Amino acid sequence: MAREIVIAPSILSADFAKLGGEVEAIDRDGCDWVHLDVMDGHFVPNITFGPDVVAALRPHSDKVFDTHLMIAPCDPYLEAFAKAGSDIITVHAEAGPHLDRSLQHIRSLGKKAGVSLTPSTPESAIEYVLDKLDLVLVMTVNPGFGGQTFIPAQLDKIRAIRKMIGERPIHLEVDGGVNVDTAGLVAEAGADALVAGSAVFKNGDYAKNIAAIREAAMAGVAA
Ligand code: DX5
Ligand code: ZN
Repeated sequence: MAREIVIAPSILSADFAKLGGEVEAIDRDGCDWVHLDVMDGHFVPNITFGPDVVAALRPHSDKVFDTHLMIAPCDPYLEAFAKAGSDIITVHAEAGPHLDRSLQHIRSLGKKAGVSLTPSTPESAIEYVLDKLDLVLVMTVNPGFGGQTFIPAQLDKIRAIRKMIGERPIHLEVDGGVNVDTAGLVAEAGADALVAGSAVFKNGDYAKNIAAIREAAMAGVAA
């Protein structure tokens, strides 16, 4: 059976002056998940928003809130993001020395646990935590900003992780530079969840943009 593809628009590229309305718009226009990029100006060179903003957005959509924490340390904030209404909480393997503990903590809060790898981190970083994971997020740009160019070398990592996952019920998500030109490549390599910021929020036609990315990805799955 063909793999289903999840499209997760990143509100990093939305209009921050009307975030609630933007979340409602992508919900109405066919997104599967809402991707929330949390940045601390320390782990990454940019600052976005914290748990209070996630909590404020929660009533605007029933879709999965996919929270991507680009913060270090992450452990002191996991509970706040869980209480704010995140469904999936993803931490970076590079953000601290105790990834296994962070993942256990996320699950103990009743949330799905994800780990993200920056472009320079090899897939071996997740080898011994696979059974504590619900999602692996492969960054195809260096985290910190929207609108960057996709790094094709990450396709090999996506393929390798798809193999490592085997039959486990773990999502393989890709984030950074995903658009109609790259969606097929990452889906063909094994991704089943695609984050897209600028490619969704450009030119205001979110429904058309989400549908186009989904179509490109499905063509990759079939290839
Ligand atoms: C980057 C963020 C991404 C970003 C993607 O650090 O994690 O989610 O918003 O933006 P695009 O799709 O524009 O590359
Ligand atoms: Zn992200």
